[in-house]
Amino acid sequence: MIFMANLKCNHTRKSFEEYAQILDESLKDENVFVFPPSSAFLEGSFKFKQAAQNFYPAKNGSFTGEIGQDMLDEFDIKTVLIGHSERRAIGESEEQLKAKFEYAKKEGFKIVYCIGENEEIFEKGKTKEFLKSQLENIDLDYENLIIAYEPIWAIGTGKTASSEIINDVLNYIRNFSKSSLLYGGSVNEKNIATISKIKNCSGVLVGTASWDAKAFLKLINSAKEMI
Ligand code: PGA
Repeated sequence: MIFMANLKCNHTRKSFEEYAQILDESLKDENVFVFPPSSAFLEGSFKFKQAAQNFYPAKNGSFTGEIGQDMLDEFDIKTVLIGHSERRAIGESEEQLKAKFEYAKKEGFKIVYCIGENEEIFEKGKTKEFLKSQLENIDLDYENLIIAYEPIWAIGTGKTASSEIINDVLNYIRNFSKSSLLYGGSVNEKNIATISKIKNCSGVLVGTASWDAKAFLKLINSAKEMI
């Protein structure tokens, strides 16, 4: 099972050093990825993979405020998140997502591509066609692709999608792609056991419940008890 921690805009370099140390002391061979803020990237090797919440599709250049590939390479970062709803919400367009996807694919990055509907689409029963349209932009056969289904109404709300919904949506996405499929949206230590049993679910993308290293480890351990 894959465990991803999206630290979002939390943790300084100092606090992330402590976070990394706690994880490193307890992890064994679990498949764990951590996405710290880019200002907190650490040098060295860990028992988890360090990954990027965001990047600009260029090696370097005149792109004020952006993080290019050179800056990721410096920390040996080989995994990037694209399409998170919080980035879409601040204006990242489908065109920009496509450019990021194509760049990351060309450079061989592992891509965690996030898709998910808002509450209105969900209530109207239009989730599947919406997700299909979000997937039109990307190469679903890319070998290093992971797709994360993250319903917006479940992110940071404590309102996880039911296992019936997750199961149904992941089965639907499976029709288009052989990639590993993740679920994200208020995953926590309590609901991880149920989520880990869903057929096409290869792992979870965790926000809030991952920000404290010990809490994240507890979540991982609860899932492991089920496997
Ligand atoms: P959450 O965030 O676990 O706090 O709902 C998930 C995410 O945004 O990836």
